[in-house]
Amino acid sequence: MLELACGTGEITQLVHNLGHEVTALDFFEAMLVVAKAKHADKTRLRFLHADAGQTMEPDGSYDAILCRCLVWTLTDPAEAFDDWFRILRPGGRLLIYDGDWAKPCPSGRWAAQILETWEKLLPDPNHDAAMGDLHGHIMKS
Ligand SMILES: C[S@@+](CC[C@H](N)C(=O)[O-])C[C@H]1O[C@@H](n2cnc3c(N)ncnc32)[C@H](O)[C@@H]1O
Repeated sequence: MLELACGTGEITQLVHNLGHEVTALDFFEAMLVVAKAKHADKTRLRFLHADAGQTMEPDGSYDAILCRCLVWTLTDPAEAFDDWFRILRPGGRLLIYDGDWAKPCPSGRWAAQILETWEKLLPDPNHDAAMGDLHGHIMKS
């Protein structure tokens, strides 16, 4: 099984513990460093430093591919999907768990407003204002 954009390996752990042999891929080296340290004891797990949009993996090499919180960030999702169907074996499964976090539904907007109010009432002393502004700018663009 291939897990795309594994981050620090939380989903990796779940699927590994279900008995799957897992390749966990991410393009951010720092994430992989944490994931490798967390899962150093796991024998049926390998990590891959690569771009999920162009995996460079061999044709038909996985019986399942999964990803959480990746697709909405892809700059060229069609190219990525072509690549994923290329590396899936015939009859393989693609499992995507995602959302369009830039365009939340009414309940998502409501939850965001609650969080915003919460942060005003109880500000986080570690909050990085510059990073918050940058995130706000990206989400609006
Ligand atoms: C929000 S985290 C999600 C981590 C994990 N999937 C989870 O649900 O716990 C997003 C991860 O996607 C990775 N990522 C984003 N775009 C990527 C890409 N094109 N190729 C590989 N990794 C990517 C980031 O480095 C980050 O680790």
